[in-house]
Amino acid sequence: MKQLSVSEKRVAQEFEPKIIAFLCNWCSYVGADLAGTSRIQYPPNIRVIRVMCSGSVDPLYILKPILEGADGVLIAGCHSGDCHYLNGNYKARRRVAMVKTMLEQFGIPGDRIWFSFISASEGRVFADTVRRMVTRLKELGPNSMKAQWEI
Ligand code: FES
Repeated sequence: MKQLSVSEKRVAQEFEPKIIAFLCNWCSYVGADLAGTSRIQYPPNIRVIRVMCSGSVDPLYILKPILEGADGVLIAGCHSGDCHYLNGNYKARRRVAMVKTMLEQFGIPGDRIWFSFISASEGRVFADTVRRMVTRLKELGPNSMKAQWEI
């Protein structure tokens, strides 16, 4: 990992990444809700989009926020064997791996896209995932695509 200068570290500390999160209605969304109702603290950097299944997240929905300047995208779904639509979570995981590889070809770090299995009872896992993701995105710095659209 690249060593940051003092000024780069200061910018990184002040930088607050914007994350778009696609959460499965049956597990991960409920897990996020549980984190809230249990008053588990997590960074407010996340904007949630509720989907019926992580498998319904088209690769374009993952790419579009990144191309439009979001700093990260999280896709979270049910654990293995728990998907309400049989194998949507496996499809989502494969798509995420594919999109990460594709982004890396364009010089965008694959670490901007995360996939996670989060069940309805895992409010703490949801909060930890968001916390770890924000930490990693702060290390990566702002999405370089953002500068292209700013006037
Ligand atoms: Fe949750 Fe498919 S229903 S991932």
